[in-house]
Amino acid sequence: MPSSFAEARVDLGAISENTAALARRAPGAGVMGVVKADGYGHGMLPAARAMLAGGAEWLGTAFIEEALELRGAGISCPVVAWILPPHAPLSAAVAADIDLGVSTPGLVAGIRTAAAETGRRARVHLKADTGLNRGGLTADQWPETVAAAARAEADGLIRVSGVFSHFACADEPGHPSIAAQTSAFHEALEIAGKAGLEPEVRHLANSAATLTLPETHFDLVRPGIASYGLSPIPGLAGTGLRPAMTLRAAVALVKRVPAGSGVSYGHRYTTERAASLALVPLGYGDGVPRAATNVGPVQVGGRRRTVSGTVCMDQFMVDIGDDTLGTDAEAVLFGPGGDGEPTAQDWADVLGTIPYEIVTRISPRVPRVYDAR
Ligand SMILES: Cc1ncc(COP(=O)(O)O)c(C=O)c1O
Repeated sequence: MPSSFAEARVDLGAISENTAALARRAPGAGVMGVVKADGYGHGMLPAARAMLAGGAEWLGTAFIEEALELRGAGISCPVVAWILPPHAPLSAAVAADIDLGVSTPGLVAGIRTAAAETGRRARVHLKADTGLNRGGLTADQWPETVAAAARAEADGLIRVSGVFSHFACADEPGHPSIAAQTSAFHEALEIAGKAGLEPEVRHLANSAATLTLPETHFDLVRPGIASYGLSPIPGLAGTGLRPAMTLRAAVALVKRVPAGSGVSYGHRYTTERAASLALVPLGYGDGVPRAATNVGPVQVGGRRRTVSGTVCMDQFMVDIGDDTLGTDAEAVLFGPGGDGEPTAQDWADVLGTIPYEIVTRISPRVPRVYDAR
């Protein structure tokens, strides 16, 4: 059962406006909104619809199952799924007109079979590994896979609708790998062109590249995190992005304790003076990192404070000193930051991680409540 005391409010207007702002940053390209991992924790379907309302023409997912969920909800725009493990439901994807990212040479044969089985031409995006050394075809695998794809295209079984790649360090402006990967992508495109492939879309840019590397926009940009209003590059000025998610909870109780009281499991926090402690009913079962013990920022009763003691499965405590709270007091863990509340970036900074992880890890136990401001 979701807790009725807590919610992740998602401002869908912010997602639409962020998408529109990203589209303006890439005037010569279309936008593929990335909605994998339940829309980075914001809720995949509402996020997808908000991105489309903001001008995205494509959607991107990691897995076919996510793309099928989009189709099941009636979303008919082009959708690419790019992680296809063995036994991925290729035929279901082809039947649902989902574009498939190809990262291994063997997948071309698998997709040919799926196309023959389904009686439909499969749409394929060949993924070049230009230096991330994660998914994608290596430079050695590229020519043979391009040739196999060209044969399957000539046989009427597939259409190579896209060629793409992904950056390793676009969030580190000036990193030498950026130019090396961009140049390797141009080479991959040239080889594909010589083999007779004419992809509708060439795409390389994630959020960081969309915002800072116009020479990498090609036909389509693929922003994820920036669509949700979080910066891929901490401190990047002038993005105009608005964070979409606010995580908050009602204060469940307040109690007075004497000086020297150990608080929560392990007594990792001790009150210096007599103090009031507020109980916030969110814990690691809701996706609040246990590592936020004694460091997580939180606004309680309108003031910035810090998690006091161990974050438990369902709750944590906050020392509010001698302040008093009304019965309707709330705790805001993170939000856009405009009312003095912490941001997901603040949480990422104290925990040594990235805001992607902060928003994506909020568990399904926390109800998503949608604002369409
Ligand atoms: C292939 C691919 N493209 C685009 C994105 C979006 O990246 P970002 O959220 O940094 O914009 C991701 C996310 O990891 C990805 O894996």
